[in-house]
Amino acid sequence: MKILILQSSPRAKGNTAWMAEVYKDAAEAAGHEVTLVNVAKKKIAGCLACEYCHGKGEGACVQKDDMQELYPLLQEAEVIVLATPIYYFTFNSQMQAAIHRCYSIMKPAKVKKMALLMSSYSPGVYDAAIQQFKYLCGFWKAEDAGVVTAMNDEQKTEETKQKVETLINKL
Ligand SMILES: Cc1cc2nc3c(=O)[nH]c(=O)nc-3n(C[C@H](O)[C@H](O)[C@H](O)COP(=O)(O)O)c2cc1C
Repeated sequence: MKILILQSSPRAKGNTAWMAEVYKDAAEAAGHEVTLVNVAKKKIAGCLACEYCHGKGEGACVQKDDMQELYPLLQEAEVIVLATPIYYFTFNSQMQAAIHRCYSIMKPAKVKKMALLMSSYSPGVYDAAIQQFKYLCGFWKAEDAGVVTAMNDEQKTEETKQKVETLINKL
């Protein structure tokens, strides 16, 4: 399957980036075609709610920033993996901006499954993010292909690596 991983931590060697790499390696080993994008390195502004996309724009966003690179990848992806650190009990703002800018396309055209990878400092901080993920799966009509979280002492461990690798069986 064509897999798009959106990784939104600004820390290139951080825990979320590591989880995203583990997923990518495992998916490629299983024969999938994977594109990994570091969303935090992109210039993606928040949605302006101008409704240009739903009028004159006919699905195109009026803002011509790095989101333009992401739209074709989103439209082609059969699996979308969100990899985000927890900031203030939910997805970080870089991930939220990318999701909000999908307003112009409403739904990535070919998405069938989604997975969620998250890291945090504390335990018990994932509920809001998991809820948003589940709603997003519903909105995009995608099957939930699993969630893996890694707090503090679970980060970059063999156990977490195995949990992420096991998600590939859900594709
Ligand atoms: C702005 C900011 C907000 C954060 N908010 C939370 C939080 O609400 N709960 C938590 O457990 N960790 C929080 N953290 C810690 C990160 O989630 C944690 O260090 C995570 O592992 C970072 O992932 P990374 O290594 O991929 O960057 C926050 C960190 C930052 C920079």
